[in-house]
Amino acid sequence: MKTPRNIAPAQGKLGVLLVGLGAVSTTTIAGVFAIRKGLAPAIGSLTQMGTIRLGKRTEGRSPKIKDFVDLATLDDIVFGGWDIFEEDCCAAARTAGVLEPALLEKIRPEMEAIKPMPAVFDQRYVKRLSGPNVKKGRNKKDLADQLVADIRRFKATHNCTRLVMVWCGSTEVFMKEGPVHQSLAAFEQGLEQSDDAIPSSMIYAYAALSEGIPFANAAPNLTADVPAMLELAARTQAPVAGNDMKTGQTLIKTVIAPGLKARLLGVRGWYSTNILGNRDGEVLDDPESFKTKEESKKSALDYIFQPHLYPELYKDLSHVVRINYYPPRGDNKEGWDNIDLVGWLGYPMQLKINFLCRDSILAAPIVLDSALFLDLAKRAGMSGIQEWLSFYFKAPMHAKEVYPEHDLFIQLMKLKNTLRYLKGEELITHLGLEYYD
Ligand SMILES: NC(=O)c1ccc[n+]([C@@H]2O[C@H](COP(=O)([O-])OP(=O)(O)OC[C@H]3O[C@@H](n4cnc5c(N)ncnc54)[C@H](O)[C@@H]3O)[C@@H](O)[C@H]2O)c1
Repeated sequence: MKTPRNIAPAQGKLGVLLVGLGAVSTTTIAGVFAIRKGLAPAIGSLTQMGTIRLGKRTEGRSPKIKDFVDLATLDDIVFGGWDIFEEDCCAAARTAGVLEPALLEKIRPEMEAIKPMPAVFDQRYVKRLSGPNVKKGRNKKDLADQLVADIRRFKATHNCTRLVMVWCGSTEVFMKEGPVHQSLAAFEQGLEQSDDAIPSSMIYAYAALSEGIPFANAAPNLTADVPAMLELAARTQAPVAGNDMKTGQTLIKTVIAPGLKARLLGVRGWYSTNILGNRDGEVLDDPESFKTKEESKKSALDYIFQPHLYPELYKDLSHVVRINYYPPRGDNKEGWDNIDLVGWLGYPMQLKINFLCRDSILAAPIVLDSALFLDLAKRAGMSGIQEWLSFYFKAPMHAKEVYPEHDLFIQLMKLKNTLRYLKGEELITHLGLEYYD
């Protein structure tokens, strides 16, 4: 046993502020309400269902994660958020069409009580959307100040001891890091001058981080992953995680690809296509928003296969990703993957995967987990990029000098070892020689 890290207790209410009360957010919120009432199980959530092995395999110690580390309980969570539409959370959940009306009816009062605060929104960054519930301001700094006022008001009204913010808003247009993102001073000047390189999502991230609030980005936008935001997070000791939740097709990709790589099977091509009919699908139908998503979805294979180390297996891999907006399917996404493999002596094979998934049903438990783990990180005095939360993201944030870890199994080991480290338990290396000495 090593010295455990000092972790402040999870006392009082945790406010979870979600930007965008769309399909993912309302499914997360409704899920927490339903689970609290014992109406449904928390399937898919590591914080609620996961266990963690401690010590040797002979010790038989595998507590639930939530009993091992002090996490906020579901009863202690209060939700709030912003959206460009005025409908309350219950109506928004009905619009999203993910959950059965009968389930929503059972949690209607709690859901109706959550009304979106007016959003910071500019249609130049999400071309396919427009809505009435939008703030006006002198410049982007003024808008950030209004968000800070919202945050403080929410905290006081709901008597929260801590807050966490998760961007669950639409995917914004593709942007690259520019001069205004390089330092906090440049960024703050950019806010005053309403610099075009500052999209709405960055204004939210700035507001949260300047209050020392942990921030996660569930979408692929360039939001908190720039030097200016990391400088701010270091200054205010705020933990940050992202980008783009790993749910359907990419989740499966980061399960299958490490297996093929482990057996040194070559891959010549990986063709991924999706049909999706929700509002997210509609937003992604815009080429500029799709570009943001495409970049995020495509990076995983390069890092897992390491073509620079295995050129004969992966150098010329053709990786294609498509998303087609197809309204009849709603939130029930269908993904197809065709993988062209190469085996012993260069003989070709094929693997086909057809995943009929539910986008927001896969996303909700990991929004919950990231919020609870970020709150833990904050109480444990961890700030800046939380690489141990890579497990949840398609394009994980990482230190400049290292490559991101995409392999789901390494990510899970990293996450659990971080929890062991925080509690002063031995890290598990899976060496296991001691059983045979
Ligand atoms: N569902 C998944 O499996 C999944 C996985 C990874 C990432 N994501 C990402 O999560 C995000 C949310 O997905 P969704 O399915 O809930 O989409 P959605 O369209 O149902 O919800 C997004 C909501 O954000 C709101 N919004 C947009 N810009 C805003 C702003 N500036 N301020 C406040 N609200 C704003 C929209 O009005 C909408 O209600 C998307 O970016 C999506 O790409 C989803």
